[in-house]
Amino acid sequence: VPIPAPEFPEKCTSEENCCMPYPYTGKPVRQFTIDPNLPLRIRRPVHKLNDDEIAKLEKGYQLLRSLSESDPRSLSNQAKLHCLYCDNGIYYPGMIWPLEIHNHWLFLPWHRMFLYFHERILAELLDDDSFALPYWNWDNQSEEEVANTLPDIYASNRSSSLWNHNRNKCAQQPNIVNLNTVGGCTEKTPTELRIENTRLMYTQIVSGAPTPRLFFGQAYSYGDGGGHGPGTFEDNPHGTVHLWVGDPDAPNKFDDMGNFGRAARDPIFYPHHANIDRIWTIWKTMPGKQRMEPNHTDFLDASFTYYDENADRVTVKVSQIINTTLLRYEYEESPTAWITNGQ
Ligand code: C2O
Repeated sequence: VPIPAPEFPEKCTSEENCCMPYPYTGKPVRQFTIDPNLPLRIRRPVHKLNDDEIAKLEKGYQLLRSLSESDPRSLSNQAKLHCLYCDNGIYYPGMIWPLEIHNHWLFLPWHRMFLYFHERILAELLDDDSFALPYWNWDNQSEEEVANTLPDIYASNRSSSLWNHNRNKCAQQPNIVNLNTVGGCTEKTPTELRIENTRLMYTQIVSGAPTPRLFFGQAYSYGDGGGHGPGTFEDNPHGTVHLWVGDPDAPNKFDDMGNFGRAARDPIFYPHHANIDRIWTIWKTMPGKQRMEPNHTDFLDASFTYYDENADRVTVKVSQIINTTLLRYEYEESPTAWITNGQ
């Protein structure tokens, strides 16, 4: 049985403090429908944004941060929504296990739609339906482009709305991301890191993930306790990038990015996940007959509840969100030397 769209708890008892304001708007939950009239948004790599795009992005996060705490769209409430879904915040009536959206095949679709609404909320605040989230192109090891460091606009200016104070001091410019990290710093040289990052991408996305089960992860159905295992790239590079950005010396080790409950407080969470979402779209285009989404109804009919750009609750079914062009967004191409392991 597929998981049904959860209700947000009226009496929230999250230990992690991810309770959201209740009640929200008085409106009933709506069922998501594709909006074919939205302009096609092209998500571009962060390191290539032009000045206007940067200004718009910064403005969007300023507006997001200035929403009131009773508004479920605010940046801190979006972080809480992520937390609710993964830190024992939501129980189906009568079930002993909380809902969990990591460590199984719903990881990718849940985060796709979390980002979708994040982008739509920013678009609403900016009054610009063409607004597109950028992606952090950390899989690109090109020496000329410098896509694989913490992007400058997120890291260089403390007064920027994209800045977050809880970050690893070794995740600063000009250090290259370590896709195989256990957190903290590394002794590896930039050349070693580039080679290892490329190799890791190749094994996780290409050679190690020829089937839906390997790529997406184990099945997760109504009543399951926790996930039964992630797909090849949920732990690395997805989890390792989280750990690499998080501060190992923070009181909650690896805050913010390295902890589920607080990761989405850091604005870099969103371009990081846009890159994860982009890699899903790339994986599907690679040779091999089985590079497609699981066709089981427990996958396709699973549904989630989010907040939309008007702060109303909306439920979405996985089968509605497989095709990003129907969702009206696509990714600008970037080099993918890892597909051939840099050869
Ligand atoms: Cu819900 Cu990158 O994690």
